[in-house]
Amino acid sequence: MNRIPVWFDTDIGVDDAIAFLVLNRQENLELKGISAVAGNVELEFTYPNARNICVLAGNEYPVYKGAEKPLFKSLQTAHVIHGEEGLGRAKLPVSHAAETDIPAWDAIYNAAVEAKGELQLIAVGPLTNIAIALNNHPKLSTLLKRILIMGGGAARGNVTPAAEFNIFADPHAAQIVFKSGIPIVMCGLDVTMDAFLTPEEVEELGSVDSDVCRFFRDSTGDILDFYERGHLSGLCLHDVCPVLYLTHPELFTGEEAGVFVETKGTVTMGKTVTDLWSDKKFEKKNAFVVLGVDREKFAEIVSEVLRSY
Ligand code: RIB
Ligand code: CA
Repeated sequence: MNRIPVWFDTDIGVDDAIAFLVLNRQENLELKGISAVAGNVELEFTYPNARNICVLAGNEYPVYKGAEKPLFKSLQTAHVIHGEEGLGRAKLPVSHAAETDIPAWDAIYNAAVEAKGELQLIAVGPLTNIAIALNNHPKLSTLLKRILIMGGGAARGNVTPAAEFNIFADPHAAQIVFKSGIPIVMCGLDVTMDAFLTPEEVEELGSVDSDVCRFFRDSTGDILDFYERGHLSGLCLHDVCPVLYLTHPELFTGEEAGVFVETKGTVTMGKTVTDLWSDKKFEKKNAFVVLGVDREKFAEIVSEVLRSY
């Protein structure tokens, strides 16, 4: 089987960790590396989280340290949702893998060169590392086959009514990515709010007698309470969407569109402005905006993969 070379860039928080555990078991993906960025929590936590989740998964991947703050904005974290160190109440085994001083943006470029244009980048946090990589290595825009992000929303926001967390955290970086010319799959809140596990599915998965399912239970408990207090349907697994879009595109629906990021507005700062439903269109359709998911099948696959550990 020709495996797809992929890179995972993450502000590894709870749904990021679950996305990684799902990615790690996809037979048709070959994970070339992981880069950590500040977002849900500070880099001092996202970097060790990325190293340590590999130990839980039973696979050592090269992990690189990225940006500790957005390009221009100050760092805004989401401790209230992801907990003090980003993984709720869960504790991970500690990695003793050798560390490297190669920064994330150089590692991403090196992997793209090595993959000879076939590398697909899954980015599930603020896009700061990707933007720096594109700024430092202009050729990268011709070497990345596709960027699949969790971020944005055509019609929804979660940090403000206009903006989703990953894009709001670093709108300038997001704009660089959307203007790069690299094909983009945008898994925004339009689809990720429907990509959830019900409380019953969460409880059932969390009761499985395995280290990974205990990690799932301990990392998701507080987040599920947060979502239920917000009268949401369950545990939204935002970051799993771009992973499963890559391996199971048939689960999803969406449309090509022009998408650009507001970087100056006060009310709309960080909004992914799409022309999906506008008479006036942007000049280019630069992204595939994912809008729908087969939730039952999505939940079934996530459960099956996490039980497989
Ligand atoms: O808005 C949801 C996104 O913000 C997810 O990537 C979650 O991990 C947080 O980073
Ligand atoms: Ca994330």
